[in-house]
Amino acid sequence: MSFRLRDFRPEDLDRVIYINRTCLPENYSRMFFLSIHKRYPDLFIVAEADGQIVGYIMCRIEHGLLGLGKRKGHVISIAVLPPYRRRGIATAMMEEVLARMVERYGAEECFLEVRVSNFPAISLYEKLGFKKTDVIKHYYPDGEDAYIMTKFF
Ligand code: ACO
Ligand code: ZN
Repeated sequence: MSFRLRDFRPEDLDRVIYINRTCLPENYSRMFFLSIHKRYPDLFIVAEADGQIVGYIMCRIEHGLLGLGKRKGHVISIAVLPPYRRRGIATAMMEEVLARMVERYGAEECFLEVRVSNFPAISLYEKLGFKKTDVIKHYYPDGEDAYIMTKFF
């Protein structure tokens, strides 16, 4: 099975929302997806296989107070449809955005939040060099804790 990555386009929105709702309890408004894309168009990538979008990653850069702090990449959301998992699609999307965060935005680190029970995602991030750097108690509306995982460039 082959796949290819390309930048998100606004006409992909319905499909990305479908994948987000199929894969994750954390869902966002149409405006939220579009506003992230408008601000960071090269940090929103989709993966295509069998002629359809089967995964996405959406990120932003956090500039710190008044833009004076460290520049940090933030992976807001990543998902791959179940039949297309364990084929390296998430790894490829992550590697592409991590490279862009460094080269295009001068990011010094990248972080994300992940449910403490989400072993597949935690393993993916650890393989990519992320470390668990903090725990946020009751981060999710259902009461589950989040790990903050960070990759230092
Ligand atoms: N069990 C154990 N390890 C896993 C699993 C799993 N189910 N899935 C991935 N991994 C680890 C493995 O080490 C894997 O390498 P291997 O296949 O050579 O063993 C490595 O991660 C890379 O896997 P990929 O094939 O690149 O990952 P995939 O394309 O399957 O996508 C993802 C992983 C995105 C976590 C997928 O399972 C998914 O969409 N899950 C539901 C949504 C989700 O949890 N998203 C992350 C939420 S946190 C956030 O968005 C910031
Ligand atoms: Zn986040």
